[in-house]
Amino acid sequence: MLRRLLDMFRGKPVLVGGAQKLEEGLAKVVEIGDVMAGGTQVVLCRVEGKVYALDAQCPHDGGRIIGGPLVDGKYAVCPLHNYHFDPRSGVAVRGACPKAKTYAASERDGSIELRV
Ligand code: FES
Repeated sequence: MLRRLLDMFRGKPVLVGGAQKLEEGLAKVVEIGDVMAGGTQVVLCRVEGKVYALDAQCPHDGGRIIGGPLVDGKYAVCPLHNYHFDPRSGVAVRGACPKAKTYAASERDGSIELRV
């Protein structure tokens, strides 16, 4: 009951396959819907065994958070000004700017369920 109620406020669920391919300390960019028609790019990150999701839109100055190895195994990077973001909270840990947008993410049967 509580889960259903919380889900109503988290957005609709989207399943992304291949959860096991997202290795520890890596980030991968996926597109949810048609980006040219209102979809979004999400950066999936695995930190300490859990999957987290950041919006690829950098909150600093129009750059994009990218996929690839996470800095120190836990921070996603926007290469435009080299700011680092903690995927667990969206907080910028290197650079002064607002938090990156995060999405709820969980693993289920080999897929990643996102609430976007
Ligand atoms: S635009 Fe991303 S760090 Fe500046």
